[in-house]
Amino acid sequence: MTEKIVLSGMRPTGQLHIGHYSVLEQWVQLQQEHTCYFAIVDWHALTTSYQDTSAIKDNIKEMLVDWLASGLNPDKSTIFVQSAVHQHAELHLMFSMITPLSWLERVPTYKDQIKQLGAMGKDINTYGFLGYPLLQAADILIYRANIVPVGEDQLPHLELCREIARRFNHLYGSVFPEPEALLSEFKLLPGIDGRKMSKSYKNVIALAAEPEEIKKQVNAMITDPARIRKTDPGNPDVCVVDKYHAIYLKDKHEEIRSACRKGEIGCVQCKKMLAKALDEFFMPIRERRHEILKRPGYLDEILEEGAKRASTAAEATIMMVRKAVGI
Ligand code: TRP
Ligand code: SF4
Repeated sequence: MTEKIVLSGMRPTGQLHIGHYSVLEQWVQLQQEHTCYFAIVDWHALTTSYQDTSAIKDNIKEMLVDWLASGLNPDKSTIFVQSAVHQHAELHLMFSMITPLSWLERVPTYKDQIKQLGAMGKDINTYGFLGYPLLQAADILIYRANIVPVGEDQLPHLELCREIARRFNHLYGSVFPEPEALLSEFKLLPGIDGRKMSKSYKNVIALAAEPEEIKKQVNAMITDPARIRKTDPGNPDVCVVDKYHAIYLKDKHEEIRSACRKGEIGCVQCKKMLAKALDEFFMPIRERRHEILKRPGYLDEILEEGAKRASTAAEATIMMVRKAVGI
């Protein structure tokens, strides 16, 4: 791939979990070759949490530490908070002029989410939430990005972004490239209870988990429920531990599966192996995290520098947009 402009973003949800690591790994790869922008999208967080904003600032910092500890390099990538670059908002406003309401109303997740979050006491029947994908399009197109690494769930948003780019170009002349999604190989690790890994289910292993915490979570993982004694033949296919072995103990995975089936390995021992493997795998990230937290002012510096660089690029696009539109 020749050098491209890459943009991606995450809502500031605080500490990340190990399921996020494969996404970050991909970002770290991309920053070696491309011009990368990584945004902490706090305005997007507001669309669903405007009623309680108390955690946003801390969540931004926590997530940033995880990004850096995982290898995002502020000398290579532009790392910034969305709301520090007001040009995103101007482009969002501009796009709102040319976007048919029906395009937003037909985004597959839109109505579901209003219902789902509504049931949790969140009223997101708002103008801002309807515009969520439009704001996302502005995040991407303000840098005239070509590549957008995202999970599969974001493909409808990306498609809308491409449609907006086409419509703008058609109306005012060619300003925007049509960005392409780059699917992250999001490894679908289940949470320790076998459901989707999610903070709200309290079934995650934090990226920054200390060894004791890892041990505790691994011990709580659901194993083959039919297995009572360690000599009982087990079925790894219904065991959460097995899904983790597939990734973190790849070399021994088949061997462990067969030992489980023959009743030659107990779950306690099996879990011990996993806890050790996870502990070793994430140790460097944990250590970098500790180092980062020892440097006062470091995070603010990165975000300030990132916002400066992002604003310069974003302003150049805004100039083109105003000129094209004729205002
Ligand atoms: N909607 C994305 C998510 O929930 C977050 C996001 C906002 C984003 N703006 C973006 C992702 C721009 C990629 C590009 O995951
Ligand atoms: Fe799961 Fe391992 Fe127990 Fe088999 S031995 S059920 S793979 S924890």
